Amino acid sequence: MTIKIVGLTGSLRRGSFNMASLRAAQELLPEGASLEILDVSAIPFFNEDVEKEGVPQVVVDFKAQVKTADAILIATPEYNYSIPPVLKNALDWGSRGGDNSWSGKPLAIMSASPGLLGGARAQYHLRQVCVILNLQPLNKPEVFIMSAHTKFDAEGRLTDDYTRKAISKLLQALVDQAQGRPQD
Ligand SMILES: Cc1cc2nc3c(=O)[nH]c(=O)nc-3n(C[C@H](O)[C@H](O)[C@H](O)COP(=O)(O)O)c2cc1C
Repeated sequence: MTIKIVGLTGSLRRGSFNMASLRAAQELLPEGASLEILDVSAIPFFNEDVEKEGVPQVVVDFKAQVKTADAILIATPEYNYSIPPVLKNALDWGSRGGDNSWSGKPLAIMSASPGLLGGARAQYHLRQVCVILNLQPLNKPEVFIMSAHTKFDAEGRLTDDYTRKAISKLLQALVDQAQGRPQD
């Protein structure tokens, strides 16, 4: 059975390193896994009034894609030591409607930043949010893509071998978890 992974990021930037790392992950998948990158750019800001008046179709579709996934991959930028609002917004919408779409899903986290910590602080904020969402983040391997501007070429292709291997290991661990074979 194919393990269906859905990926998302909180960057809307055309040249996003985090989106580029999701695309790299598509090339590095273990056998028997698929990765669909979800577009969160059209999801409106969460508003309880809008929710009461009728959940926008784009959100309905987003939740349906998450619900049918076996596992989640998030590549988060770090904005002011935390996750960007675009990502939090998508996480919030997904948690609503009396059917938390994230609940119980294995999650792999990575982050890319031009800085030296590679988005580590955002990852730990994200892990805190996972508690209430009942997402099941892998503890390891941890993938921090630091000095990201040196690791992708002009076309956004991940050229750094060490990082490619790290993402491969993360994906393997995620698939193992989704198949009920957690690593030591
Ligand atoms: C509002 C804002 C806050 C930022 N804060 C941080 C930060 O706290 N730590 C960090 O490493 N980079 C920070 N950055 C730089 C981002 O890591 C950088 O813009 C990165 O390329 C964003 O990810 P992306 O390439 O996927 O768009 C910040 C950028 C923005 C726009």
